[in-house]
Amino acid sequence: MKGIILAAGKGTRLYPITLPVCKPLLPVYDKPLIYYSLATLMQAGIREILVIVPPGEIKSFSNLLGDGSYFGIKIQYKEQKEAKGIADAFIVGDEFIGDDSVCLALGDNIFFGTGFRQKLRSAVKGIAKTNGATIFGYYVNDPRPFGVVEFDEDGKAMSIEEKPSNPKSNYIVPGLYFYDNQVVDIAKNIEPSDRGELEITSVNNAYLEKGELHVLPLGAEFSWFDAGTADSLYDAAGAIRAAQRSGKMIGCLEEIAVQNHWVTIDELHEKADQMHK
Ligand code: G1P
Repeated sequence: MKGIILAAGKGTRLYPITLPVCKPLLPVYDKPLIYYSLATLMQAGIREILVIVPPGEIKSFSNLLGDGSYFGIKIQYKEQKEAKGIADAFIVGDEFIGDDSVCLALGDNIFFGTGFRQKLRSAVKGIAKTNGATIFGYYVNDPRPFGVVEFDEDGKAMSIEEKPSNPKSNYIVPGLYFYDNQVVDIAKNIEPSDRGELEITSVNNAYLEKGELHVLPLGAEFSWFDAGTADSLYDAAGAIRAAQRSGKMIGCLEEIAVQNHWVTIDELHEKADQMHK
């Protein structure tokens, strides 16, 4: 399975902070925001990653992450020339995806919690076994700014709506999506929404209509933030600081790379020494 991080939004809700600096490069407590999306993909066991960035921004992202070898992964970069919506990531990433399955992580979504790695691994295994799509459902008090999933009595997904004014449930679909290879064709065939975007919700609804959408619940033991506003950036930073106070690291790419046996601690020391020469 390949991984894509969509880091191409303008971050208008954070202006003027995001005028000189892309949103995914902003600090969230002690790391840049994009580290948390990368941590999610790495915890899922994904090593080949495409980072989709705004026009002219490859250098600023590659200054931070390089080719990924420091973390035992392979990172490529590609510009999204025009902001056409989240589902455009599969069109921009068409060649990169090739014949593979793919996980898309939005560059401003942060997840953590005990057992998150297992959750991710079961999503990856699910796609390998049954194909189709796997997304998550997460309870929030105000679901209106998000994609909202409605369940029937048996917990089966019935509908997904993007930013509904009258949400049918409190379960939102966070920015982490696992798809089989059909996603490229599906993305190429959906129509832009009323706001002119290729919506990820349209992709999920296409899988739902085929009976190939799995929605895994993400319980209150997990933390999730869409760090696209000043308030959520601040809240996320506080939550990460509090969680790390008890000794755990959140979004520490070096730690995940070592846990995954992709690099050794000695290799990390060696590379860090070279970098700081
Ligand atoms: C996007 C998606 C929405 C999803 C959200 C998660 O919204 O369109 O379905 O719930 O990300 O962060 P946006 O943040 O682009 O408004």
